[in-house]
Amino acid sequence: MTSKILTYKQLELANALERARDQRVFVVVDAKVKNMLPQWLQFAPDVFWLNQPEEQKNLDVYAEATSFFLKQGILRGHTILGIGGGATTDFAGFIAATLHRGVRWIAVPTTLMGMVDAAIGGKTALNTAAGKNLLGAFHEPEEVWLCSDFLKTLTSHDLQSGKGEILKYGLLNKDIFDTIMAPKFVMEDLILQCARYKLDVVSRDLKDNGERAYLNLGHTLGHAFEHVLRIPHGLAVTMGIKYLFKAFEQKMGLSAFDELFQKLDMDDEKTDIAHYKRLDRPAFWSALGHDKKRTTEGLNLVLLDKVGSPRLQSTPIPQIKSRLEALSDFKG
Ligand SMILES: NC(=O)c1ccc[n+]([C@@H]2O[C@H](COP(=O)([O-])OP(=O)(O)OC[C@H]3O[C@@H](n4cnc5c(N)ncnc54)[C@H](O)[C@@H]3O)[C@@H](O)[C@H]2O)c1
Repeated sequence: MTSKILTYKQLELANALERARDQRVFVVVDAKVKNMLPQWLQFAPDVFWLNQPEEQKNLDVYAEATSFFLKQGILRGHTILGIGGGATTDFAGFIAATLHRGVRWIAVPTTLMGMVDAAIGGKTALNTAAGKNLLGAFHEPEEVWLCSDFLKTLTSHDLQSGKGEILKYGLLNKDIFDTIMAPKFVMEDLILQCARYKLDVVSRDLKDNGERAYLNLGHTLGHAFEHVLRIPHGLAVTMGIKYLFKAFEQKMGLSAFDELFQKLDMDDEKTDIAHYKRLDRPAFWSALGHDKKRTTEGLNLVLLDKVGSPRLQSTPIPQIKSRLEALSDFKG
């Protein structure tokens, strides 16, 4: 199954939610978007609210939410709606994947990260004490409802994070690169183009055994930056791409990165190691060594010969380390 992507303005979204109510839906919502939802939903009994989605994306809250929905009478034929950023849709999707061995769900992403990435592609997850997203299931939402009006209240930090994933798509796909580099682009159109691109890749490789791996560009170093610096995912991915290209002397990749970075109006200093008082390097190397995608040979890095032509390169961790340490801004 491939998800259907629908785009809505705020009023149309309200109408779609109203129609969903008539068919009885069970909803998981990020409390931060409460005021942007129709009144009936704000007071509906079948809603499970998340106040701190990333902190609550765990087994304890999963147990709470599933008991709540079961008490409310959820059946296999019902639908779950997940309304929020990536943490909320990961959580709602995991509930949908597991309750009654799988019920339908609809993702309504409210962050830029969610719209272009997290809500697309059916990876659902919970965090555990041992690490992020270690429990999960592939369970695609039947529909993804994109409503860019949600972006109006997003912090610049979270906008920047979503732009990090958009920049990644610009490197992986020449059409997206051209859209961004055109004299003017419309954000809504760019979001839809990115979402469709990811959906297209996923439709050929849902279970991540082939070309979906390219979507991991920048994520290997990015996850280590995210873990050690405690910065938003997309910001860490941006850093991951930049330092990967520097370390592996990807000159064409670096110049495309710079062009996209400027055109997307991204924040220069927050993607530079020098901005952070101290990068705990031992913790960084340890996080890299614990990457969940490592193989006995090392890590599968995504490199780029030119825009739109990614390739995988299995690289031993000591080689990645020595290349990074050779950079003047990565010594330690
Ligand atoms: N499943 C996937 O394929 C996939 C891909 C990428 C990331 N992820 C997951 O997504 C999460 C990161 O996504 P995220 O950046 O959206 O995180 P998030 O869901 O934590 O949202 C970021 C912040 O924005 C707030 N927020 C949400 N919508 C808002 C709005 N419209 N206005 C103002 N504030 C709003 C949230 O409450 C939160 O504080 C991580 O848990 C990551 O593991 C999943």
